[in-house]
Amino acid sequence: MSAAPMAFRFLSHEDMFKAGVANMDGCIEVMQEVFDLLGQGDYVMGGSTRNSHGLRVWFPLEPKFEGMPKGGPDQRFMSLSGYLGGRFNVCGNKWYGSNVHNPAKHGLPRSVLMMTLNDPETARPLAIMAGNTLSSVRTGAVVGLAARYLACEDSETLGVVAAGPINSICVKAILRTVPSIKKVVVFDIREEASRKLADAVKAGSDIEVSVVHDMASAVKGMDIVTSAVSGEGTPLIENAWLKEGSLLALPGRARVEDAYLLSSHIVPDCWEMQKTYNIEGHLMKPGERMIPHARLHEMVADGQIAEDTIRDLGQIVAGNAMVDRNSSKRKYFLSNGMILQDLAWGMCMFRRAEEMNLGQNIVMWEHPSA
Ligand SMILES: NC(=O)c1ccc[n+]([C@@H]2O[C@H](COP(=O)([O-])OP(=O)(O)OC[C@H]3O[C@@H](n4cnc5c(N)ncnc54)[C@H](O)[C@@H]3O)[C@@H](O)[C@H]2O)c1
Repeated sequence: MSAAPMAFRFLSHEDMFKAGVANMDGCIEVMQEVFDLLGQGDYVMGGSTRNSHGLRVWFPLEPKFEGMPKGGPDQRFMSLSGYLGGRFNVCGNKWYGSNVHNPAKHGLPRSVLMMTLNDPETARPLAIMAGNTLSSVRTGAVVGLAARYLACEDSETLGVVAAGPINSICVKAILRTVPSIKKVVVFDIREEASRKLADAVKAGSDIEVSVVHDMASAVKGMDIVTSAVSGEGTPLIENAWLKEGSLLALPGRARVEDAYLLSSHIVPDCWEMQKTYNIEGHLMKPGERMIPHARLHEMVADGQIAEDTIRDLGQIVAGNAMVDRNSSKRKYFLSNGMILQDLAWGMCMFRRAEEMNLGQNIVMWEHPSA
């Protein structure tokens, strides 16, 4: 047994910024590497299928004990674990809690995230790091990457449904990978959120930005649409609103009509993960089931949609499948987020922190007792 102390690096939110966590261009390129590894299969995620999104702590809607949190939309704790290969070669876990009332009630972000990285061979912890910006930047970068592969080359208009932190960063990423965008239209049920995002897009660019007061106006005729709502209800994005050849990216929840599913290229972040969601969802009580893209699974099960027409973004990036981004067929990108994305960007931050000697060295033990 090694007599060396067991130590790891702790990186605060501020350390993460010094290490470059907000570097969107860098993160988009790293996400491209992640999807390439995914397309090759060089990863393992948690759970029995090796493709589980994560383990959810799922509070009851009516808790019987004082102090136990009450369940509801976007009220959860989540543990996402996995291994990513390639030059990253790392195991890790992202642990977060989400309370949709946090911003209004506690002045905190909806979700609070922490990330742990481990050496995959020895299990030695490498780092524990603040996870909020890590996670939001990688989420945006994935949507930006999807736009790089799936949006028509001459895309000029971007519709935004919900202007929370996640969709705001998705907009930032799309503007990096689709520099032809000339117009952005924003809809959020909270007008102040729409205005904040509109001001951020306008700052330092000559993009025309407008705030609208209904969802249809943010979707109709747009070349790209991104939607990331939270809380009660799952809005319906109508088939007729979605333009020929357009890309609809869903980093958050929304419903689409059967006619849209039947006529679009369906590109998930990872179909095997989506299938595991479906299996795990059916283990829950009918009234409590939360299965992302449940209707898509039903249509695949009853043969209306052939499973082999569904192409993962990873397969496309790795060159094992093709979607003609410039065709008139619409493209539907489903992103539920994967630990692999956090592992890759987290590992980049850890290596940068080592080079720059950022953060604190935390000793877990000087001498192992056993
Ligand atoms: N795909 C991924 O990898 C990934 C990663 C992180 C978060 N998410 C998801 O993204 C979603 C948004 O996260 P966030 O942190 O920005 O949440 P948030 O609660 O901070 O912001 C959500 C925004 O949606 C708006 N909204 C709610 N209902 C709406 C509706 N019907 N129409 C228009 N706007 C509406 C709210 O006013 C708010 O501004 C969450 O559901 C979260 O689970 C996905």
